[in-house]
Amino acid sequence: MHVAGSIHADVASPAPVWLEKPSDANALDPKLWSISTTRADSGELRIGGLGVNELVERVGTPAYVIDEADFWERVERWKGAFDGWQIYYAGKAFLTTKIARWIDKAGLSLDVCSLGELTVALAAGFDPARIGMHGNNKTEQELRIGIEKGVGRIILDSFDEIERVERLAQEYGVVVPVMIRATTGVEAHTHEYIATAHDDQKFGFATTGGTALVALMRCYHSPRLNLLGVHSHIGSQIYDTDGFEVAARRTLKLFKQFQDATGEQITTLDLGGGFGIAYTSADTPADPETLAPALRDIIIHESRGYGIDVPELSIEPGRAIIGSAGTALYQVGTVKEVDLGGSESRTYISVDGGMSDNIRPALYGAEYSAVLGNRASGVAPKLSRVVGLHCESGDILVRDVFLPGDTGIGDIIAVPASGAYSRSMASNYNHTPRPPVVSVADGKIETLLRRETLEDMLRLDVGYEGSADE
Ligand SMILES: Cc1ncc(COP(=O)(O)O)c(C=O)c1O
Repeated sequence: MHVAGSIHADVASPAPVWLEKPSDANALDPKLWSISTTRADSGELRIGGLGVNELVERVGTPAYVIDEADFWERVERWKGAFDGWQIYYAGKAFLTTKIARWIDKAGLSLDVCSLGELTVALAAGFDPARIGMHGNNKTEQELRIGIEKGVGRIILDSFDEIERVERLAQEYGVVVPVMIRATTGVEAHTHEYIATAHDDQKFGFATTGGTALVALMRCYHSPRLNLLGVHSHIGSQIYDTDGFEVAARRTLKLFKQFQDATGEQITTLDLGGGFGIAYTSADTPADPETLAPALRDIIIHESRGYGIDVPELSIEPGRAIIGSAGTALYQVGTVKEVDLGGSESRTYISVDGGMSDNIRPALYGAEYSAVLGNRASGVAPKLSRVVGLHCESGDILVRDVFLPGDTGIGDIIAVPASGAYSRSMASNYNHTPRPPVVSVADGKIETLLRRETLEDMLRLDVGYEGSADE
């Protein structure tokens, strides 16, 4: 590792082992790009029937583009594969009122995990009965709104919250449908998972040590709570079912303990989200058609083992629904060649966005890929790093990618798999306005979120003459 830390360049090996030098840097790996993305004969990318040059002219850069056809195709595949399961789209991946309406039209339910997400869902007219409320520190205001509107389930995360919801239910004279969030000691990521006997983190009730069972019993004995079941979320970017298997075993053991204690069975098990997508050509996520039967088999097998009925099942995919539909478009501002010693060099390509619109590389070391979007190039590809405009050397968007050697000022860099956890996690770092999100379909553009302006930001600054507070 570099002496200055892991986010700095490691000069000993400029390209990671997984990154192959492409014979054609213009080629699009279909597993990375949204369904309607193609490279036109002219060389430019086309998304949703629109050329990237026209998109950039009309929307500007940086910008996030959601391919509507990709969204619907994925929704249909997940619904088909997980037939009989309830699917809650995880709004944290990306949520606007229009996305909430698409989710509604698709017949999916919606997982929200903050007052903000709940507000967007309700503003979209989303049926509260199909909303699940998450969060380890839901505010009283948030819970009140959820209860008043009649949300379908509140996923309880602490004993304090059980008391709070019970008190509010009493005040409103209602019975509130709840689940408890169980933490199983399983943390899963891509093909790996760790399974410990403890869970040293902020979410939920641990299955080990009996805490989750105590929480279940507490809800069961409350006349104001309708205990639906147990929720377990084990991680993100998960590519296979191994981690889910351990988590399911531990969760269903809890079902059995509950049944032994009460003589009754809880009905619902939610396995959470975390189903991975491909960000680079090296990524190999399982598709829903493989995941669904494997997960069902695991649940059936484990339920039989414990002598309990197979529960009703639900999942909460976010990234797997919206992630691959999104493409980020940036414009190149400067290009710098950095000599790495020997015959090695790296091209630093600075674009007009960065960690303020996509924090994932800096936050998690997330890898991405990219191509030249506005044109094709016959120039040999060079090892490049796409970086942002922010005042941080860790402000990296695509750490390692081979881009045509003539990539230059004014070119458009397109980053696939950008629909989830990028714009939704965006900040105003360095007073940078957040980019817009548009959807494209059949040659038409619709704005989901408009571009933030400098004026928008100044209006929050009460020292500014034109502040909203004036
Ligand atoms: C409880 C819960 N459900 C669902 C999700 C969605 O995860 P993903 O978008 O990776 O499917 C998350 C993500 O953090 C989560 O915490």
